[in-house]
Amino acid sequence: VGFGTAALAQDNYPVRQVTMIVPFAAGGPTDVVARIVGDHMSKTLGQQVVVENVAGAGGTTGITRGAQAAPDGYTIMMGHMGTHGAAPALYPNLKYDPAKDFAPIGLAAGTPILIVAKKDFPAPDLKGFIAYVKANEAKINMAHAGVGSVSHSTGVLLNAQLGIKPAMIAYRGTGPALNDLMANSVDYMADQIVNVAPQIAAGTIKAYAIATPERSPALPNVPTTKEAGLPDYQVSAWNAVFAPKGTPAPIVAKLAAALDKALDDENTRKRLLELGGVIPDKAGRTPDALQKLVESEVARWNPILKGMGEK
Ligand code: MLT
Repeated sequence: VGFGTAALAQDNYPVRQVTMIVPFAAGGPTDVVARIVGDHMSKTLGQQVVVENVAGAGGTTGITRGAQAAPDGYTIMMGHMGTHGAAPALYPNLKYDPAKDFAPIGLAAGTPILIVAKKDFPAPDLKGFIAYVKANEAKINMAHAGVGSVSHSTGVLLNAQLGIKPAMIAYRGTGPALNDLMANSVDYMADQIVNVAPQIAAGTIKAYAIATPERSPALPNVPTTKEAGLPDYQVSAWNAVFAPKGTPAPIVAKLAAALDKALDDENTRKRLLELGGVIPDKAGRTPDALQKLVESEVARWNPILKGMGEK
């Protein structure tokens, strides 16, 4: 294969469908964001962006597979604050380096964290929740999407602030965890807004607080942690598209432009905003901005998680 052929492959890209690995179960927050932006990216690229769910080990299984895929633009992935921020602190043998083994494409959505509980949880508000979990630590459990996931890292941060160590129940994503929360078979979790907003609105689960400085326009009745009595619990997650390291620059540029265009599209924006997603501004969507975000998130989460004794 000479230089001419490679250059042609980049010019013609994509000539077949693009696989976007989602490292969690279908129906959860990462999957939802991937499908919303992937739908519009398909239109711009002229080829389908097809989601493939590769769940396991808090998202690190799917991201490892994506990192090791051929760097030809036909395998990309939706990573997040867990896979590309928290995971290195918790997996000493992680097979990828979030800052070195990827060609960042761009940030897709910010996802504020909420403290949610099963509908039958016996507390009317956050103060009641805090009192209850402290008094009943031995019999409550928290759902999460595997060690290093967003719900796990933001969940252990919450538990550390409350001074509790409940039983932790791991799922292959917070999509299935939410099903059990709705079935009243698990007690509570910290989860991304895009997963839980519809169920909170429908009243099938309880939302005690959102961990952002301001309320979300998507859930105007849910108080902030500051309003509800836990002001130090401030945390948000994010979802972002990555390609494997070595993906040619012209292909990275095409993917980044398609993502940028998706986030400018009115219908795509509406779908994300209705779920409480935060749409990154233009400057925040670039590959360079994502590279800096990954570096700062790895640096931020490492001392937090190690300081809590989480490995
Ligand atoms: C998912 O899609 O299930 C998640 O993003 C899970 C998580 O990291 O908490």
